[in-house]
Amino acid sequence: MAPLPHPRFRAMSILLTVAALAAAAGCARSDAGGRGAKDAGKVVVACGATEEWCAAMTDRFTEATGVEAEFVRLSSGETVARLQAGKANPEFDVWHGGPADGFVAAGEQGLLDPYVSANAAAISDRYKDPSGTWTGVYVGVLGFCNNSRILAEKKVSAPRSWQDLLSPGLGKNVGLAHPSTSGTAYTMLWSQVALHGGDAGAALEYMRRLHPNVLQYSKSGIAPAQQAARGEVGVGVIFSHDCVATQEQGFKDLTVTFPAEGTGYEVGGVALVRGAHNSTSARRYVDWALTPAAQEIGPSVKSYQVPTNPRAKVSEKSVDLRTVKLVDYDVAAAGRAKKDLTKRFDAEVAQAPKS
Ligand code: G6P
Repeated sequence: MAPLPHPRFRAMSILLTVAALAAAAGCARSDAGGRGAKDAGKVVVACGATEEWCAAMTDRFTEATGVEAEFVRLSSGETVARLQAGKANPEFDVWHGGPADGFVAAGEQGLLDPYVSANAAAISDRYKDPSGTWTGVYVGVLGFCNNSRILAEKKVSAPRSWQDLLSPGLGKNVGLAHPSTSGTAYTMLWSQVALHGGDAGAALEYMRRLHPNVLQYSKSGIAPAQQAARGEVGVGVIFSHDCVATQEQGFKDLTVTFPAEGTGYEVGGVALVRGAHNSTSARRYVDWALTPAAQEIGPSVKSYQVPTNPRAKVSEKSVDLRTVKLVDYDVAAAGRAKKDLTKRFDAEVAQAPKS
């Protein structure tokens, strides 16, 4: 009888056997807890940034990996609603793009599966959830997107503070989305909470004072860029990179300013959907989304968010985070408060009559 190998080698050979069995069953190591055996070699993405960005991301993922990818563009609140509706039989495998507080809200409702990608090691702790519920892929800063022609007609200067935005000269001339659907607008709402020392009531009071200036609360966060571009409003409250992209579409009257008191920012996230049908492909997608190559795609489709991977090249058109005063934005607290705060916004602000 051959002598028994050293216990360390025995343990290793048991591990190798388990790994081989897992691989044969189509479950890679990273698949633990997922439904890898049912993976159809494709990935369905709930995508929270612009259509062009989502199309480029999914196409390039397929080029890089051979895994088919489709997407549906959804605003942040819409994604959470769709994930909730599909909880028993998810229609998506991955959520990619959109502010991380929405991911926190989804995580609270048990809609995401924590996954710490090996590639997340490169991303700063500021831009990821330690337990892997979401990992940051980009950073965007909230600003004012001004139509200088409209503002000149109204004899109002471009706002440089949140107080300026309340100017009576801007009546029905501010574009803003609804924070229940739009992650952009929720970033604006939570920025007010941060600026008011965590006092949600004071933040809602600011929003009530702003209400007469808001033309309408749009569904998607980028809509106010189009409103400002077409001259329907003098100012859109949006992520500054969306204003830069709209300027590049030929709307030369647009200018960007930032509020002096401090402004909010988003960390765009990526996450696995709980119970995803294609969890192996979904993990590959998350791994890929964190690479410099994936994060350098944005500028090729006029998406100038700042990458979270420090090895990714930063476009010269991206905002320089060191030059803008930012509020202390607590993503986890913002996400936990999202459900109640947006409900209150709807009841106490959006439905109030305009004088
Ligand atoms: C745009 C921006 C993204 C942002 C997203 C939020 O696509 O380019 O940086 O994450 O809006 O969308 P939402 O419609 O939820 O405000």
